[in-house]
Amino acid sequence: MTVAHPGLTVWFTGLSGSGKSTLSLAVCEQLAASGYRVQLLDGDEVRLFLSRDLGFSKHDRDENIRRIGYVAELLTKNGVITLVSAISPYRSARDSVRARIPQFLEVYVNAPVEECERRDVKGLYKRARTGEIKTFTGISDPYEQPLTPEVECRTDLESIPESVERVIDAILARVQTS
Ligand code: ADX
Repeated sequence: MTVAHPGLTVWFTGLSGSGKSTLSLAVCEQLAASGYRVQLLDGDEVRLFLSRDLGFSKHDRDENIRRIGYVAELLTKNGVITLVSAISPYRSARDSVRARIPQFLEVYVNAPVEECERRDVKGLYKRARTGEIKTFTGISDPYEQPLTPEVECRTDLESIPESVERVIDAILARVQTS
């Protein structure tokens, strides 16, 4: 069964280890199971293909976000609920994407950097602390918090199902009324 609905870009931003991939994947699977057209663009995977030539300077991160934003814009125009999961640390880059996509919903996946470092899912915080990774977001590189995100998930305070439900509620409120 498929559901008739307009496109929407749902942009998950937050520190490495904050829970962006976990939440966006769960939201994606739940919407797909209910018959919505969804596509997930995850930073880690995008960097293996579309952005494989890019590093982590401000210039390269902004370029990464510009490319992802362009793909998200095309998909959204064509009626797909497009879930983007990328640190996207710079407010100006996120806002440039928002300015191009009328149907845009920002999800701030927020956990204190101490909590992300404690989780250290990929062992990258440890490598950042030893200086092996030079410009690591939250440790030796900036993260500019969203000022007015449509949804904020405090993943250190609420459970994954709670966060997923709030994001899905916000998505449905947008695609069912617009
Ligand atoms: S972004 O800054 O350009 O938005 P993106 O989300 O695509 O970043 O990729 C971040 C992922 O790359 C992290 O989850 C982590 O696995 C890895 N990574 C490698 N080096 C860095 C770094 N210096 N800063 C942040 N993440 C890094």
